[in-house]
Amino acid sequence: METMKGPRGKIPLSIIAIIFCTLAFMALLYTERLSFLSSSSIFKFRPCATRYKMSKTDNKRLVSKPLDYAADDRFEFDPEECDIVHGKWVFNRSIKPLYSDRTCPYLDRQVSCVKNGRNDSDYRHWQWRPDGCMLPRFNPEIALKKLQGKRLMFVGDSLQRGQWQSFVCLVESIIPKKHKSMKRGRVYSVFKAKEYNTTIEFYWAPFLIESNSDEHIIGDPKKRILKVDSIAKHAKHWVGVDILVFNTYVWWMSGLKLKSLWGSFANGEEGFEELDTSVSYRIGLKTWANWVDSTINPNSTRVFFTTMSPTHQRSEDWGNKDGIKCFNETIPIRNKWHWGSGSDKRMMNVVSSVVGRMKVPVTLINITQLSEYRIDAHSSIYTELQGELLTDEQKADPLHYADCIHWCLPGVPDTWNQILFAHL
Ligand SMILES: *[C@@H]1O[C@H](CO)[C@@H](O)[C@H](O)[C@H]1NC(C)=O
Ligand SMILES: *[C@@H]1O[C@H](CO)[C@@H](O)[C@H](O)[C@H]1NC(C)=O
Ligand SMILES: *[C@@H]1O[C@H](CO)[C@@H](O)[C@H](O)[C@H]1NC(C)=O
Ligand SMILES: *[C@@H]1O[C@H](CO)[C@@H](O)[C@H](O)[C@H]1NC(C)=O
Ligand SMILES: *[C@@H]1O[C@H](CO)[C@@H](O)[C@H](O)[C@H]1NC(C)=O
Ligand SMILES: *[C@@H]1O[C@H](CO)[C@@H](O)[C@H](O)[C@H]1NC(C)=O
Repeated sequence: METMKGPRGKIPLSIIAIIFCTLAFMALLYTERLSFLSSSSIFKFRPCATRYKMSKTDNKRLVSKPLDYAADDRFEFDPEECDIVHGKWVFNRSIKPLYSDRTCPYLDRQVSCVKNGRNDSDYRHWQWRPDGCMLPRFNPEIALKKLQGKRLMFVGDSLQRGQWQSFVCLVESIIPKKHKSMKRGRVYSVFKAKEYNTTIEFYWAPFLIESNSDEHIIGDPKKRILKVDSIAKHAKHWVGVDILVFNTYVWWMSGLKLKSLWGSFANGEEGFEELDTSVSYRIGLKTWANWVDSTINPNSTRVFFTTMSPTHQRSEDWGNKDGIKCFNETIPIRNKWHWGSGSDKRMMNVVSSVVGRMKVPVTLINITQLSEYRIDAHSSIYTELQGELLTDEQKADPLHYADCIHWCLPGVPDTWNQILFAHL
């Protein structure tokens, strides 16, 4: 259910590329090693997923010089052909994140793991490698050029806020100080890149729909009431944005039935019905979908939806019986297809079925499987509680204090943005 994109117009080249790729792929089927190409290792991955734009000079380079595939912009990433969902994490110490929690001034303490005392660093050197293709490296210059004159807005919960901060940090280092600004608000925050006339914004709406726990969070989930058919109060702030990136998941997962309210009557919040999580989620998401379909002009606005970010609260899920949640985990899960109890398949099915029936094309950034592997990359005890860094005593009690929901930055959300970048 990826979005459709218009035809490319470079038909002759595409045909050449397809023939070229088909032949190469067939060759791969019958040959163990393509030694004549091994120096370039172009065919290690199914090359057809990224279209190859050929020229004479390219031809020469093809055989003579090893390629840094990911950095090579002759490979145009084609989201229709590249399935980024399935793949593996590859460790490479020479991969350095584009920023750190010391160089980027915009990171919240919640995600600044190194500043908060995390001293193992391997988790920052893993690269997501889809099975069939290569994800282009995040390039801040190209990203900003693509966003020139545009507004990009992330809408959702604290995980989405992490993705927003990651995006800002990925691009901000190439912008001189006086050409950028950041305004943080409780609900709405804006990063401006003035030279580019670009804003990268975040709007807090943890359920997307309205609830009594949006601006002033209600700690006790039993007291939260969701207005599953109301969205206008939030959505009026999304109008006119060029690129919208939504998410919503973890706030629905309290484990309790959700107090859901619809219509507007004099008995106010008392008229709720307690609904099963996935039922309430379906109605809420449908409300969002109806808003998108009735309000968004797909010719001028692109819509993305980031799928659920897995939580890692049960170390039995990955076979660590003596573990405490994600605490002290330092390497990703290797077991292909691993799917833990923190990612609810029913909720995923709701997303598939609601998004699948929308009129406006929505591009899914399906991060769930790739993030499932990354038990090593959560904030864990290197985080804060109500604005204060965890004390040593709290750090010694990971069962209660380790955060296995949010992610360290730099970290996994950078990969989510790499996927978003590839679609821009
Ligand atoms: C590791 O990353 C560097 C820099 O991107 C690259 O040159 C090198 O080939 C990579 N090594 C492996 C084993 O992939
Ligand atoms: C990293 O921190 C842990 C405690 O959090 C400590 O025991 C360990 O010695 C530190 N390692 C390094 C290399 O500083
Ligand atoms: C900047 O972008 C906004 C839309 O985000 C547009 O309305 C405005 O005209 C642009 N200004 C310049 C100087 O390009
Ligand atoms: C979008 O563009 C297409 C083709 O240019 C046009 O037919 C269609 O009416 C436009 N849709 C909207 C909602 O403006
Ligand atoms: C963390 O794991 C290491 C082995 O990976 C172990 O030696 C150490 O005792 C563990 N720390 C705690 C506090 O459990
Ligand atoms: C996301 O990918 C998973 C496979 O990892 C798949 O089961 C799920 O249906 C996908 N989600 C959507 C909404 O398409």
